Amino acid sequence: MPETSEIPVLTIDGPSGSGKGTISRAVAARLGWHYLDSGALYRAVGVAAGWADLDLADPAALVRCAFDTDIGFRADPAGEPRVIINGVDATDELRTETAGAAASAIAAIPEVRSALRDRQRAFRRAPGLVADGRDMGTVIFPDAGHKVFLTASADERAERRYKQLKDKGVSVTLDGLLREILARDARDAHRAVAPLRPADDAVRIDTTGLGIEAVVERVLALVQP
Ligand code: DC
Repeated sequence: MPETSEIPVLTIDGPSGSGKGTISRAVAARLGWHYLDSGALYRAVGVAAGWADLDLADPAALVRCAFDTDIGFRADPAGEPRVIINGVDATDELRTETAGAAASAIAAIPEVRSALRDRQRAFRRAPGLVADGRDMGTVIFPDAGHKVFLTASADERAERRYKQLKDKGVSVTLDGLLREILARDARDAHRAVAPLRPADDAVRIDTTGLGIEAVVERVLALVQP
């Protein structure tokens, strides 16, 4: 068994809509590595807090919730990831804008971030890990051998999200999504603890106008030159 610190990690950080989730999952599948969707952990705590009717302005209650919530990841028969919160499949609820906004709010609480730190590090298992989030390269896996920071223009990110939601039959406006994305970017980038920023040693890739496969190839080339 390798020492945990010897297990390779590729961190993929960036703002919402930069394509992190899709790219990270595809790269993890190609490498045969494990995958950590750290945003899902923050979203799961937000959803669990909603179920328990907790006040988003009550940090102590939210920290308890972050410690106590049972969060599991499973693949459905088609191989699609499902997220199980306290035994209940909450995958669809997790993807809503409400869950994203709750996650962004609770993610600003330092003790919530600490409560989730060890859970995230536990995903580092052989043969390797692709970790997707905001602070994977800066805080959770600062010793990762490969770090990527994905960006895309806010307009393109809003359009991608618009398409995704429309395909799911959710009714939203492009303008509303753009406003939400800009507000979330500002909150994630300006919070006092673990703000969204590229690690000094991260390779930046602007995905504006690039297809998924092109980005996947660029990322793979960093890991397997
Ligand atoms: O990646 P996502 O949209 O699922 O993340 C939801 C929110 O969780 C995001 O607005 C900020 C927060 N988050 C975070 O603070 N740190 C992470 N590593 C991942 C997500």
